[in-house]
Amino acid sequence: MTYRYSRIVGTGSILPPRIVTNQQLVAELGSRGIETSDEWIVERTGIRQRHIADEGVTSSRLATEAGRRALDAARLDPSDIDLIIVATSTPDFVFPSTACLVQKELGAAGGAAFDVQAVCTGFVYAFSVADSMIRSGLAHRALVVGAEVFSRILDWNDRGTCVLFGDGAGAVVLAGSDEPGLLAAKLHADGRHESILRTAGNVCHGEITGHPYLTMDGQAVFKLAVSVLDSVARETLAEAHLPIEAVDWMIPHQANVRILNATARRLHIPLSRVVVTVDSHANTSAASIPLALDQAVRDGRIRAGHNVLMEGVGGGFTWGAVLVRF
Ligand code: ACO
Repeated sequence: MTYRYSRIVGTGSILPPRIVTNQQLVAELGSRGIETSDEWIVERTGIRQRHIADEGVTSSRLATEAGRRALDAARLDPSDIDLIIVATSTPDFVFPSTACLVQKELGAAGGAAFDVQAVCTGFVYAFSVADSMIRSGLAHRALVVGAEVFSRILDWNDRGTCVLFGDGAGAVVLAGSDEPGLLAAKLHADGRHESILRTAGNVCHGEITGHPYLTMDGQAVFKLAVSVLDSVARETLAEAHLPIEAVDWMIPHQANVRILNATARRLHIPLSRVVVTVDSHANTSAASIPLALDQAVRDGRIRAGHNVLMEGVGGGFTWGAVLVRF
């Protein structure tokens, strides 16, 4: 059986309970001679706090819990799922995939399970792949998760990056339907910009090779992010034959409040229709969009019939958007 559309039938998310405020981070870094301030972080990024996973808490653990919550919201059992895709850049292992570990923990054996690696665009990529698989008949119901423990790949001596990120996971259940659904999707990458944002380390002959911490050219990322978030939003809406005014909620990747504001301004979307969580979650990479989505669904902002534009941008360089009707 094939379907014309896939629809979101449940959302879920989890944040590690340990909150690190800017003040706490400033004090911790200061004790090691690294100077920063709450004012600098808030002014340049809008971030006020982040959630940090305790040692031993992995992406698969966060993904499993977010997945469970999404399945509960959808009133489905793990056995109803025949596809799990986890978007992550901080997988538990080189292999098996984080998705296979989630499948085992959920007790959902049998369907397909794999990871998608598109950094902060990972959730949008994974969502589009799941939608295509459902519409082609390869799957009927999918769990799509963005999960990260970015705190593990940060150089806590680099004030230019360590203040920006947090940990967490968000998930959606997608089900085949003849009612829309995902209205349009656009995915892009330009590998020529791979060096502006990366964690260029690996495991080789039993040792870590390269540089196992995140590095970033912040200004280059900023400029590119604002430009592609604007263009991909327009492209996606054009594909759906809808005007910008038809967007009830925009959920851009939560990297930096200045990027969010600039994107909204360029698209003429009022800030009151942009879901913002970067102040309290910081940048959780592939988890940021589904975390923000779940928050806005649970607090009642996103309701049945709303058009939601989700936009990702990140390392690779990758970017993409999905327009979804609830
Ligand atoms: N505290 C205090 N000072 C700092 C800190 C800090 N945490 N970090 C950097 N600085 C200093 C720098 O050393 C520099 O000092 P100098 O002038 O004496 O050399 C000064 O602040 C300015 O540094 P810039 O890097 O030029 O600062 P900028 O205004 O560009 O802000 C930022 C940096 C916030 C990273 C900005 O470039 C940005 O938002 N970029 C977008 C990147 C982003 O959001 N990345 C997230 C991951 S990517 C993604 O998810 C798509």
